[in-house]
Amino acid sequence: MSLTVDEHRQYLSDAVRIEAFRAAIHEAVRPGDVVVDLGSGTGILGFLACQAGASRVYSIEGGGMIELARALARANGFESRITYRPGHSMHITVPERADVVIADQIGHFGFDAGIWEYFADARQRFLREGGTMVPRTVALLVAPVEAPDLFARVEFWSARPAGLDFSPAREWARNTGYPTHLSATQLLSDPATIARADMRETLAEAFQAQASVRVARPGMLHGIGGWFEAQLSESVTLTNSPLSARRINRRNVFFPLDAPVAVLPGDAIAIGMHINPVETVIAWRAHVTRKGDVVATYRHSTWSGMLISREDLRRMRPGFVPTLTPRGVARQTVLELCDGRRALADVERETYARHRDLFASADEATAFVAEVVTRYSD
Ligand SMILES: C[S@@+](CC[C@H](N)C(=O)[O-])C[C@H]1O[C@@H](n2cnc3c(N)ncnc32)[C@H](O)[C@@H]1O
Repeated sequence: MSLTVDEHRQYLSDAVRIEAFRAAIHEAVRPGDVVVDLGSGTGILGFLACQAGASRVYSIEGGGMIELARALARANGFESRITYRPGHSMHITVPERADVVIADQIGHFGFDAGIWEYFADARQRFLREGGTMVPRTVALLVAPVEAPDLFARVEFWSARPAGLDFSPAREWARNTGYPTHLSATQLLSDPATIARADMRETLAEAFQAQASVRVARPGMLHGIGGWFEAQLSESVTLTNSPLSARRINRRNVFFPLDAPVAVLPGDAIAIGMHINPVETVIAWRAHVTRKGDVVATYRHSTWSGMLISREDLRRMRPGFVPTLTPRGVARQTVLELCDGRRALADVERETYARHRDLFASADEATAFVAEVVTRYSD
């Protein structure tokens, strides 16, 4: 069972998002332009580029959607202008420099779907000098939030679910961000822009960000809400802001603050974040003061919310001396057998013969080989 096509149905049914990209692409793409559609999914952004007059579109897609995108291009008469490049954008090449690179890898909080890393690479390897990135800038916005229902997800672990002590899980639960649709009524202050990145420039791998806000109404401070505002072109903005009447249908992020505190109008909240977009690691701090007196101080980090087994941690230490598991040896066999002479059927037969103890049937060996071959062969 795969929900991928339905996921893309949701992207396409977000009319605000589609119209924003349509308008921005018509501003950015000139007739005859070469365009890279990075993470093309159904191919929609490339199709909009074709409608805007692009002469060639390189459609890069890392998942199986690329086959569906090909069929959709045919259905719409764009197939002669679109060249498909299956694979991860950072591992593939295109034969010419593009006038425009387009992607919607902005995520919930502006950096968490890879745009930092992918655009840095795309700008260097795909874009011509003076070319255009869509989006051109991405701003990250934050505001203190009153959200007892969201904070209940942290409290849950202290409440003896199933009649047992699950309280150690709270440390993980309080150190992770929760994608959610925030509403304007949950915000305790005006939002502040905590960071803004220009996709046309070299992006920092990790950065510190600070913002200060003043509480506008009394309430309980349960966490910090985060969302993005992307400038797609000169005049088009794309946002999932809870304050925008034209927000796209994408969730925001709630970063909990443990333990919640009552705040009053005029209280100052200093918010600090350390963000590593590539690793999707974020640390958040909040310092609440009232007339100069400290009310509460918080420190959280997704480092402490990561689910990494001690076995994996041991394997990441520089002093660790790796040896291959039986499945690792079988994978090595497949790679060795892909020598440019053997047909796939021979590779499958030989792999099964050499690793009989690993596979219950020849079909299992075939599936194992397919996984390696689809990923690492041409
Ligand atoms: C958020 S969807 C957007 C799809 C389409 N561009 C749209 O606007 O509807 C992202 C798509 O990009 C693909 N993708 C994400 N990162 C990628 C990368 N670095 N290289 C190639 N494909 C990528 C995913 O498989 C997914 O199909």
